[in-house]
Amino acid sequence: MNIVSVENVVKIYHTGMKRGNITALNEVSLSIDQAEIFGLLGPNGAGKTTLMKVLLGITRATSGGVTVMGLSPADAGSREKVGYLPENHRFPNHLTGIGLLELAGRMCGMSNAEIKTRADELLPLVGMDKWAHTKIRKYSKGMAQRIGLAQALINDPDLVCLDEPTDGVDPVGKIEIREVLQRIKEQGKSVLLNSHLLSEVESVADRVAILSKGRVRRVDTVKHLTSRQLEYEFEAEIGDRFLDIPPEIGKQVAVTANGMRVELKSREGVTHIIDMLRQRRINIYAVTPVKMSLEQSFIELIKDQATPGGQQSGGGAS
Ligand SMILES: Nc1ncnc2c1ncn2[C@@H]1O[C@H](COP(=O)(O)OP(=O)(O)O)[C@@H](O)[C@H]1O
Ligand SMILES: [Mg+2]
Repeated sequence: MNIVSVENVVKIYHTGMKRGNITALNEVSLSIDQAEIFGLLGPNGAGKTTLMKVLLGITRATSGGVTVMGLSPADAGSREKVGYLPENHRFPNHLTGIGLLELAGRMCGMSNAEIKTRADELLPLVGMDKWAHTKIRKYSKGMAQRIGLAQALINDPDLVCLDEPTDGVDPVGKIEIREVLQRIKEQGKSVLLNSHLLSEVESVADRVAILSKGRVRRVDTVKHLTSRQLEYEFEAEIGDRFLDIPPEIGKQVAVTANGMRVELKSREGVTHIIDMLRQRRINIYAVTPVKMSLEQSFIELIKDQATPGGQQSGGGAS
């Protein structure tokens, strides 16, 4: 069973006269598997928060099919095993970290004893055990997000929905949050991670959906999204030569420090190039597919597939 299944979901916000109707989600389909970190990526206004709110039953889809834990979001039971860290949250400042966990636990109907046991596990998990009795108002943004992660985990959810968890967090804080996400994943939980920060998602997500203007542009593994099609780096004793690769096989696009870079017509070309090099008695040390960052891949996708006349993103909304 998929933890989350979304099929052809449309969400139209009916606003006042001036802005008219906004299609925040346009035929969105995706699914999230057990123990998967699923990144939802897209620029501000793409529809990421809207999709998360639809899953959590905070807002209703205009049309389409949604299930969370096999249940409709209209069914409160669908949220029993779900944790949530909203974007731009404001936790009550006068509470301490442990106070926030107690509040979150009580809202889930947990007993004081259950909350205590769970908090003792969660505070070290998010690296906040030393700060449990400090008031939230004294926390850095990164600490506030980490205690936010802990409150999202209080009821031991199977799915954790995190909306921009590293937004506004400094670089060290971001690394700490990333480590917490890894630990959450190791516990077998599924994570839906909304972010407009690609490098964040690249390092933790298994699969990514790229959303722009309410449409899913692509759903794929980070591995696939970041491997350039049919470009290979050959580490070999080529010197500064350009090989006479037959055009039907491909071409050498560069001489590199340790060899060359080639662009091939098909994967079989790798064998052909190796044969060519060996015939010339050139030593080969490695053949590696050329990687690009998720950011490059993302920009190419958005650029290629941007639909003219699509709905406008709503200014500062995110
Ligand atoms: N409650 C709302 N009423 C009207 N429009 C909204 C509302 N919430 C979001 N929107 C609009 O829907 C679009 C998607 O927003 P959102 O889901 O917040 O995107 P993201 O989280 O990717 O930044 C934007 O154009 C935004 O202005
Ligand atoms: Mg958002």
